[in-house]
Amino acid sequence: MVSEEEVRAGLERAGQAHLLRFWAELAPAGRASLLADLAPLDPDELGEHCRRAAAARAREQAPLEQADSRMRPVQPEVLGGVRRSDPQSLRRWEQEGFHQIAQNKVAVLLLAGGQGTRLGVTYPKGMYRVGLPSGKTLYELQAERIRRVEQMAGHKHNTQCTVPWYIMTSEFTLKPTVEFFKENNFFKLDPANVIMFEQRMLPAVDFNGQAILERKDKVAMAPDGNGGLYRALVNNEILEDMERRGVEYVHVYCVDNILVKMADPVFIGFCVMKGADCGAKVVEKAYPTEPVGVVCQVDGIYQVVEYSEVSLETAQRQDESGNLVFNAGNICNHFFTRNFLQTITREFEPLLKSHVAIKKVPFVDEDGNLVKPLKPNGIKMEKFVFDVFQFSKNFVAFEVLREEEFSPLKNADTASKDSPTTARQALLAQHYRWALRAGACFVDENGVRIPEQPSTLGTENPPVLCEISPLVSYFGEGLEVYLKDKEICSPFILDENKAKLLEKA
Ligand code: UD1
Repeated sequence: MVSEEEVRAGLERAGQAHLLRFWAELAPAGRASLLADLAPLDPDELGEHCRRAAAARAREQAPLEQADSRMRPVQPEVLGGVRRSDPQSLRRWEQEGFHQIAQNKVAVLLLAGGQGTRLGVTYPKGMYRVGLPSGKTLYELQAERIRRVEQMAGHKHNTQCTVPWYIMTSEFTLKPTVEFFKENNFFKLDPANVIMFEQRMLPAVDFNGQAILERKDKVAMAPDGNGGLYRALVNNEILEDMERRGVEYVHVYCVDNILVKMADPVFIGFCVMKGADCGAKVVEKAYPTEPVGVVCQVDGIYQVVEYSEVSLETAQRQDESGNLVFNAGNICNHFFTRNFLQTITREFEPLLKSHVAIKKVPFVDEDGNLVKPLKPNGIKMEKFVFDVFQFSKNFVAFEVLREEEFSPLKNADTASKDSPTTARQALLAQHYRWALRAGACFVDENGVRIPEQPSTLGTENPPVLCEISPLVSYFGEGLEVYLKDKEICSPFILDENKAKLLEKA
């Protein structure tokens, strides 16, 4: 156990001794908890972190204009896509993806250390229910997609295979996530193949470069951004675990996209066959100011320019045909080879830039009063997962259809976009389209046929309620056997049991 004297000496060196300002009046429990916050912080790193935060905030505006003028769109030779590529290529990529999955070479890695502030829930976002007829949470949908993709790959290659699920959490999300998985029996996945690990937390800093005390006995800490992944991989020996399992390819994704295709065989196959070390899925941006990063080149090097870091003028720029010039919206679905991740963690992690987020951070004032600031007062420094693209030797991008692959849950239902309602609608509209394609005929409770609306895209409620379990179909495949020419009464949940009954009928 590190003593108060040692911690104090370190803080003085770092110019942060104010963090012990209330030490004398703290009870033993408060002292212990403050020491527990402070002990893991290396004084030199802490001092550097605080200095950098204040300096980064001071020059916050400058890089924007510079990056804008140096941006170029994604070049066609590195871009594949569901609409851009021919059906034979798509089929070959899918086969290749399944082949790699069947050989246990593919893992998925979930970034789940965020605080979900915009959604306004106190528990991890993955535990959220968007109000589907089945009542499933985001985690349950994801777990079932893993099981299904394993099953499909195994079936095609006559083998039993595993797609390990790595889940990066933070101090905020680790405990509830572990408990939730235990309560739900790991959604029938083998717990040995669900590997949770924690990212680092960093102090929030005020505009004068002082770490903020949130309470007399607590430093205001925040996760170090989803780019904290690379340090967390090292600290938790995750790449070693991947190597032991023979994992070569990793599909990294963020928690909130209800349509995410776990270990998508087409994307994996595309990246593998292109010999890519790093890849990103993109969608066409829905509107110029949509809060998604854009995949593009800056000075000839591929990267993502985050929505908060691009000017309105650049976001709105159009080509001669009236299309947005910077149209490749990042959906936070990335492909990395394990070798690439190894190179990053060994050589490049320290070079990753820190991004500045200015937030309202509650604090205790000089007199020990708790203050909830009305204006932003604190700097949080975050690394971004995609900032490693610049180190790729062979970067590719793959464009997918928004209605099939991207509906993020960011906001509460008070917002009109990216909310529980829009996520639910997107999933139900997708399942409705799949069912129609498979030949289903929907009727109401009186047996009267409900007119079809095959182009329902999820921006509104589909005319019927139809939810298909990922355990029955991963991307709409194989549904004819249950649905073709069948009269289906809405609401309809096609789960494994129902599928068995329909198969017999
Ligand atoms: C993210 C992308 C953005 C993309 C958008 C699509 C980043 C930095 N930005 O934006 O380019 O267009 O998704 O929906 O990737 N997370 C952690 N640890 C942290 C912070 C976040 O694991 O310290 C996780 C979150 O739990 C989430 C993911 O990273 O799963 C994305 O974080 P979020 O803050 O929601 O990113 P966006 O701003 O929406």
